[in-house]
Amino acid sequence: MPRSSQNLPECWDTYKPHKGDGEPPAPDVDTFEWTQHPGHGPADDFLGGPRTALELGSAEGREAVFLARKGVDVTALDFSSAQVERARRWWGGVDHLRFVHAEACDFLASTDATYDTVFSIWGAVWFTDPGNLIPLVAKRLNPGGVFAFSQAEPIEGYYGPQAMYGNGLSGRKLTVLRWNYAPETWADILKRDGFTDVDAQVLAAPDPADVGTLLVRAVYPLGESPEE
Ligand SMILES: C[S@@+](CC[C@H](N)C(=O)[O-])C[C@H]1O[C@@H](n2cnc3c(N)ncnc32)[C@H](O)[C@@H]1O
Repeated sequence: MPRSSQNLPECWDTYKPHKGDGEPPAPDVDTFEWTQHPGHGPADDFLGGPRTALELGSAEGREAVFLARKGVDVTALDFSSAQVERARRWWGGVDHLRFVHAEACDFLASTDATYDTVFSIWGAVWFTDPGNLIPLVAKRLNPGGVFAFSQAEPIEGYYGPQAMYGNGLSGRKLTVLRWNYAPETWADILKRDGFTDVDAQVLAAPDPADVGTLLVRAVYPLGESPEE
């Protein structure tokens, strides 16, 4: 069975499109949201008060802006040039914040920088093989650093890489994979890669009949590089 994703940057260029005319205005950034239900769940305190942060798959950059305005030094990356260009236009004047145009694994494998936290909100972590990504994240965390991410609640029984058509059902064929696991499987994956204090859970939606959010937080205790 083919398991290769064509998670191409271009297919994300139109994510969160502007529906009006002209240059879209920068959105308000008053909250830090992990879930698809505004005001629901933890806020940035879930990251444990970092001084430095790396976001994987930042798109509009709202959460990166929220942290930077609190004085956190933030690097926000996305491999969609349109997302990065828009974020830079909107947020170019925000101190302590830079947007990087890069693929998550490529960036993590090539940078020497380390961070107090690496996080992803329905971002690159969802769309990247954790066997490739998570060891690279561990290498870029400071001792005691926090790795945290959110994505859709998995559908019970449908685990592993899940394929979808990236250009919709009437567009050109493009296979995009999303990695969905039960919380206990995410915990096993993270512990295997040296993380401790793993908190992996499904946060129910405000109406429990609606889709919830997978929310994961783990600590990299020593900042040591995992085995190659
Ligand atoms: C569903 S959007 C979520 C964006 C944002 N965090 C939010 O909550 O609105 C996923 C984002 O991750 C980016 N992305 C997906 N895979 C990536 C990868 N391997 N490297 C860098 N960015 C990636 C996409 O370009 C897209 O902007």
